[in-house]
Amino acid sequence: MSSTPTPHRWLRWPEDRATPRLGFGADYNPEQWPREVWAEDVRLMRAAGVNIVSVAIFSWARLQPTADSWDFAWLDEIMDLLHANGIAVDLATATASPPPWLTTAHPEILPVTATGETLWPGARQHWRPTSPVFREHALRLVRTMAERYGDHPALTAWHVSNELGCHNVYDFSDDAAGAFRDWLRERYGTLDELNHAWGTAFWSQRYSAWDQVLPPRLAASHPNPTQQLDFKRFSSDALTSYLRAERDVLRELTPDVPVTTNFMVMGETKGMNYVDWADEIDFVSNDHYVLPGAQAHDELSFSANLTGHIAGGLPWFLMEHSTSAVNWQPINVAKKPGELVRDSLTHVAHGADAVCFFQWRQSRAGAEKYHSGMVPHAGEDSEVHRTVRELGATLGALAEVAGSEQVPARAAILFDWESWWTSELDSHPNNSLRYRQEALDWYSAFLAAGVRADVVPARADFSGYDVVVAPVLHVVPGALAERLQAFVEGGGHLVTTYFSGIVDEHDHIHLGGYPGAFRDLLGIRVEEFAPLLDGETVLLDDGNEGSLWSEPITVTDPSVEVLAWYKTGEHGGRPAVTRRPVGSGSATYVSTRLGTGLEPLVRSLLDDAHVPGELPAAVRGKVELAVRGTDEHEFWFLINRTAEQVDVDGVAGDVLVGRRPGAAPEGTVVLSPRGVAVLRRPKV
Ligand code: GAL
Repeated sequence: MSSTPTPHRWLRWPEDRATPRLGFGADYNPEQWPREVWAEDVRLMRAAGVNIVSVAIFSWARLQPTADSWDFAWLDEIMDLLHANGIAVDLATATASPPPWLTTAHPEILPVTATGETLWPGARQHWRPTSPVFREHALRLVRTMAERYGDHPALTAWHVSNELGCHNVYDFSDDAAGAFRDWLRERYGTLDELNHAWGTAFWSQRYSAWDQVLPPRLAASHPNPTQQLDFKRFSSDALTSYLRAERDVLRELTPDVPVTTNFMVMGETKGMNYVDWADEIDFVSNDHYVLPGAQAHDELSFSANLTGHIAGGLPWFLMEHSTSAVNWQPINVAKKPGELVRDSLTHVAHGADAVCFFQWRQSRAGAEKYHSGMVPHAGEDSEVHRTVRELGATLGALAEVAGSEQVPARAAILFDWESWWTSELDSHPNNSLRYRQEALDWYSAFLAAGVRADVVPARADFSGYDVVVAPVLHVVPGALAERLQAFVEGGGHLVTTYFSGIVDEHDHIHLGGYPGAFRDLLGIRVEEFAPLLDGETVLLDDGNEGSLWSEPITVTDPSVEVLAWYKTGEHGGRPAVTRRPVGSGSATYVSTRLGTGLEPLVRSLLDDAHVPGELPAAVRGKVELAVRGTDEHEFWFLINRTAEQVDVDGVAGDVLVGRRPGAAPEGTVVLSPRGVAVLRRPKV
């Protein structure tokens, strides 16, 4: 699915407040509260420095109580109240969750699982992305919203639906089957092409008519892998098409109002290929929630970094995160002191020009009543609310950062949805492989080494980087192989790992030995994979330990150096990590999963590529650096990754956030535990 990318267009702030600022606010659900509370809401919002809220996200049933009646009075009042208090509105199209009257009259809009079960109303987002009936009703609502509020002075952006695909990306209904066939016809043209791409000579799967083709519903054994992959592509595209449908109504009626929708670049949410979606909207928005564990903050930084590069390095909108605990994890822990502000500023460091939360006021009833908010159950006299106010003041001090872009790092980690989807299909050598975890482990290694790395999609221009790490780059169409080859021949240093270069875009093997598409570039050949059992490990001669995977590598190019050898295991004595010099560049291969052991390898790769750390050596690993810039300035975000105070010595710049113990502009910056400092420095 391709289209002309939408040029970047940021919030339409009301004209009387056109000065640069970072957005600060929340999802605001006033319909959950009696009117008396609304006045207190805006009083507290003003005191906290809130300047934008998202309204009406789940309001369909309230706005349209029956098929033929509407109730806008309350929303009119809220829009006016917010505007009168200087708070802009990111107005939802309100289509995220269909009202009971609609699902009762039209149960055919409800999604169906792979096992044929209907997802009934009672929660939210129970609609089929391909349902024409749902679309008709939803677009009627979008049109009505745009006609009513298009000229409202509080309206600063449109918020299409909400987290499209969060609960309904995979629908196996008959609507989906029909739309899937249309999508496949468009992709392949003929059944012969489809039969070839899906490899249907296998298991008697050959199709002789289009209506035989189905979504990969529950089958007797493993469904065809290319069918599964195409269904993932189709399901993401079906939502893209839905997004376009809402957007086109909004563009027609309110061409001056930017349109966004909130992505979920976080954790294992992988159904939506956001790289494609970014082209459809005026600016990228993301929701992120911290996933507890040893890499919690690394994962946040990784997600923010990737979001920023999906947004092309331009400002994006953090639509949701949490002030403290969420409600949907098995155990929902509160944030520790410092985390609320650090989490927010880490997103800003990676390009967010707005910091918003789910939600303004913690709910009193409903499934999310134990989810934190900016105003918790305890009220304004609470630690969370005091910290919210502190954050509002801090964002105020960073107003000049608004509009600045990300300053590229010299290293990049390539992150590719196609490889994510495909490397984790079933019937593979090791089904414990987790694509995103592998990429995150490399990112953690860069953080531990104290060197910046951009997390970039496969379509990024690699030419400005010295080092590109492409972990588990499993799907390698010819054009991508050529681009990476050109990168290396141009002096770049490429690193790739096990299970990379294995298949083409149809999930067909690149024949002749692994790692297929990269065999010549890497100067190695592997005849058979040697996956490791759960808990099984192999030692390397550099002291590292591999898990998940190993390979008996044969070196085929005499210039290849072996950086580490397997010491134990079936393939003890054979190469584990190799490097082929190519002119002034190189191609490195890591044939096992090193996890937390990647840091020394990253350090030596960076040394070989002459990529220095920008941070003082003493704080590398303790502090994350992220850099944004304008034509005149760089903004250095120094993020304390530890729960101890860290003093960063000898960093120049004017302190926008944080403190120096002395007056010297070249002196020390003190980072409180989990604290962040922001420095303005002249552009280099
Ligand atoms: C998001 C959603 C919000 C709220 C939040 C809770 O998925 O958009 O409406 O449910 O999670 O963390």
